[in-house]
Amino acid sequence: MQKLAGRRRCFSSRNMAVIPCSILLLFPLLAVQVGGQFTDGLGFISLDCGYGHDAQAYYVGPSFGITYVSDASYIDSGEPHNISVVYASVTMPPRFLTVRSFPSGARNCYTFKSMTPRLKYIIRASFLYGDYDSKNSSSVQFDLHLGVNFWKTITVTSILKVYYTETIMEATTHLISVCLVNTGRGTPFISSLVLRPLNRTLYPVVNASLSLILSSRFDMGRIGDYVRFPSDPHDRIWNPFDQTTSLTKTSTNLTVENPVDDHFEVPHVVMKTAVVPVNSNKLELSLATKPGGLDEYYAVLHFSELKPLLQNESRQFFVYLGGTLSNDAKPFTPDYLSSSAVYSTNPTSAPTHYNISLVATSDSTLPPILNAAEVFSAMQNTIVPSDSRNVDAMVAIKGTYAVKRNWMGDPCVPKAYAWDGLNCTVDAAGVSRITAVNLSHGALNGEISTSFANLSEIQYLDLSYNKLTGSIPAFLAYLPSLKYLDLANNELSGLVPSSLLTKSQNGSLALRIEGNRNVCFNATSCEAKRKKPAPTIIVISCVVPVVLLLMLVVLCILRKQQGNHFFVHIQRSRGRHMRGSKEYAFQIDNRRFTYTELKKITKNFGRVLGKGGFGTVYYGHLDNSIKVAVKMLPHTSSEEFVTEAQHLSRVHHRNLVSMIGYCIDGEHLAFGLRVHVSGNSQRAS
Ligand SMILES: *[C@@H]1O[C@H](CO)[C@@H](O)[C@H](O)[C@H]1NC(C)=O
Ligand SMILES: *[C@@H]1O[C@H](CO)[C@@H](O)[C@H](O)[C@H]1NC(C)=O
Ligand SMILES: *[C@@H]1O[C@H](CO)[C@@H](O)[C@H](O)[C@H]1NC(C)=O
Ligand SMILES: *[C@@H]1O[C@H](CO)[C@@H](O)[C@H](O)[C@H]1NC(C)=O
Ligand SMILES: *[C@@H]1O[C@H](CO)[C@@H](O)[C@H](O)[C@H]1NC(C)=O
Ligand SMILES: *[C@@H]1O[C@H](CO)[C@@H](O)[C@H](O)[C@H]1NC(C)=O
Ligand SMILES: *[C@@H]1O[C@H](CO)[C@@H](O)[C@H](O)[C@H]1NC(C)=O
Ligand SMILES: *[C@@H]1O[C@H](CO)[C@@H](O)[C@H](O)[C@H]1NC(C)=O
Ligand SMILES: *[C@@H]1O[C@H](CO)[C@@H](O)[C@H](O)[C@H]1NC(C)=O
Ligand SMILES: *[C@@H]1O[C@H](CO)[C@@H](O)[C@H](O)[C@H]1NC(C)=O
Ligand SMILES: *[C@@H]1O[C@H](CO)[C@@H](O)[C@H](O)[C@H]1NC(C)=O
Ligand SMILES: *[C@@H]1O[C@H](CO)[C@@H](O)[C@H](O)[C@H]1NC(C)=O
Repeated sequence: MQKLAGRRRCFSSRNMAVIPCSILLLFPLLAVQVGGQFTDGLGFISLDCGYGHDAQAYYVGPSFGITYVSDASYIDSGEPHNISVVYASVTMPPRFLTVRSFPSGARNCYTFKSMTPRLKYIIRASFLYGDYDSKNSSSVQFDLHLGVNFWKTITVTSILKVYYTETIMEATTHLISVCLVNTGRGTPFISSLVLRPLNRTLYPVVNASLSLILSSRFDMGRIGDYVRFPSDPHDRIWNPFDQTTSLTKTSTNLTVENPVDDHFEVPHVVMKTAVVPVNSNKLELSLATKPGGLDEYYAVLHFSELKPLLQNESRQFFVYLGGTLSNDAKPFTPDYLSSSAVYSTNPTSAPTHYNISLVATSDSTLPPILNAAEVFSAMQNTIVPSDSRNVDAMVAIKGTYAVKRNWMGDPCVPKAYAWDGLNCTVDAAGVSRITAVNLSHGALNGEISTSFANLSEIQYLDLSYNKLTGSIPAFLAYLPSLKYLDLANNELSGLVPSSLLTKSQNGSLALRIEGNRNVCFNATSCEAKRKKPAPTIIVISCVVPVVLLLMLVVLCILRKQQGNHFFVHIQRSRGRHMRGSKEYAFQIDNRRFTYTELKKITKNFGRVLGKGGFGTVYYGHLDNSIKVAVKMLPHTSSEEFVTEAQHLSRVHHRNLVSMIGYCIDGEHLAFGLRVHVSGNSQRAS
């Protein structure tokens, strides 16, 4: 296991480093869950891949108090694994104890949602193999893509080494995806993926068409450990660079300020140390690059004067980045205790080494100074992603129906990894749009998503053999290019929009709707469908008698046990009512009458007490001369009957009526209500 990244003599082509495992101060951050995706108060997202049993799992990391969350809500594929116990150690940062691996699928993607377009982000991915698969692999290689563009090939050759890669990129939409691509040289896996927001003014060369991949980031002259969050609010990792005897370390105890228009916001702790050459007017660094690589490089050098210069002293030097004279070919003088930078605006190729040299001007009395350095290779974002409206629509559709498949990353691009069941077309500007969606036999539930309306160029839409419900939306008729629409064998209902039928009849749309029991084609056929008892009504009319029957059975049992007459119940109720108890409210004390009985009770509905929108109320009395009001409900209001029955069976108050019985007899629905007009009637009963 390699010890410290910063101790390396030169830049490795892999640009990976082992992060020392140190326990540092805890700075717990306020953590919040935003739309299922996690962020803390700083907008940091830190995923511990394969961690936890559920998507909500999180912990505050031992180093720097950064909150790590499970990656489960950012990806819907892959398998979580623990690294081998042989390699797991207590000193290892917890994020390296688990991995997520991707044995199936050519491309598997993490998706960060709710990003801010035009904001820049640092994204860092880490990989520690740790023999998680018990295969003791000596080499695993796979590709990493940032959205649709190639980011880096990850080559893992050591079991216990942390490999990492970092990019600075600009978000173009509110989605950022990071994909692991299987290139046939082992199963891709990942330990950790983090994202840190940067202001858009930072790293000016980064834009939508250019992202930077970190090669090296050094804090020159630093003694001790690397610097990161919270010293660097952007959580960049600044490694100490203490390689050479030809350089002298220098430092200040005063604060190095960041000017207002600072494009890099390098923290004071990094800027307060620096190196100067020993007995030379030249400071040279040579960084090994990928041998024979075609990569192009950018560098950023950070400077600050750390000592107050005397009247007769001066420090002035030329800056060569990758052999090119930079800073508009002018000599550069660092500001005292204020950071400033010289950076490449154009990339330079560096087949073997990337050389940086600072050469003092002839009239400079002091040698060049260097406080910090960053070198990046360029990621040209030349591959154009799919139309963002199409992407948003497909992401919404995927979410609505919880589609698994390989639906990750960009739906159309690169073509080799396009989503199953989609076909796309590419316009002259290289922008892809979806022309066909086939979700046949996809086990889709729910209504037809309105997001299909945003697939402006769709020609074929096959949603057959699913469980789609609801009506057929009219917008389908207004998709300008749609010529094939298959909705057969679903559970759709209602009137087929006439606009669709017209298109189908004149031959501009092939429409299939068969196998949907409840769709109808015109008002007449809809009327016919409606007449048939719908399942919901059957349910209500079955459930109500069953519930009431159960009540009755309970009542009968009670009656049997009490060996008493039915109206004992009422007697008991009244007794407690008179004590003013409210606990009565939920007692069920009613019985079922037949229609014939009602006729008898009301003397053939002879006396009407009242008439309302919900039925007619008749006067009557029971055998034992209890006065009752019989409320007859119109037979159509079976739902109201349930509500009323539930309501009335609960209402017991001396000044109100109480339900003592009901009738469900053929089409006749009625309640028997006891009249409690005054104290008299109570006594009378
Ligand atoms: C990883 O180890 C933890 C206990 O340390 C255990 O609860 C968990 O189930 C393991 N996960 C897997 C995928 O084996
Ligand atoms: C794993 O492989 C390494 C060499 O690649 C070997 O030294 C080690 O003994 C192997 N471990 C096991 C458990 O097979
Ligand atoms: C961006 O800059 C503004 C003002 O300069 C500052 O308030 C804000 O916190 C910065 N945002 C980030 C993400 O650094
Ligand atoms: C990004 O910057 C480069 C160089 O400054 C420029 O050529 C390119 O047009 C920019 N791209 C965008 C999308 O602004
Ligand atoms: C910084 O302070 C420390 C202790 O206070 C002192 O030893 C060191 O010499 C100071 N360094 C400089 C450059 O002033
Ligand atoms: C600058 O002046 C100081 C005295 O003020 C002197 O000691 C020093 O040698 C001078 N340095 C140079 C480079 O002339
Ligand atoms: C860069 O530096 C290395 C080592 O010092 C040297 O071999 C190489 O020639 C230099 N390359 C250029 C382009 O100056
Ligand atoms: C999609 O493209 C494939 C391959 O070109 C083709 O076989 C298939 O028929 C297309 N599907 C639709 C619905 O157009
Ligand atoms: C959609 O896919 C199914 C197989 O899953 C196939 O039978 C059907 O023909 C496809 N539909 C179209 C329009 O290509
Ligand atoms: C369709 O796209 C527009 C604009 O891009 C967006 O505002 C709207 O929410 C989208 N509709 C659906 C249903 O996705
Ligand atoms: C078919 O009808 C639609 C809707 O009325 C119309 O837009 C389309 O042009 C017609 N196509 C043909 C081939 O007549
Ligand atoms: C309505 O549709 C039915 C069959 O779906 C058809 O028999 C009937 O003729 C249609 N009526 C009208 C008025 O189009």
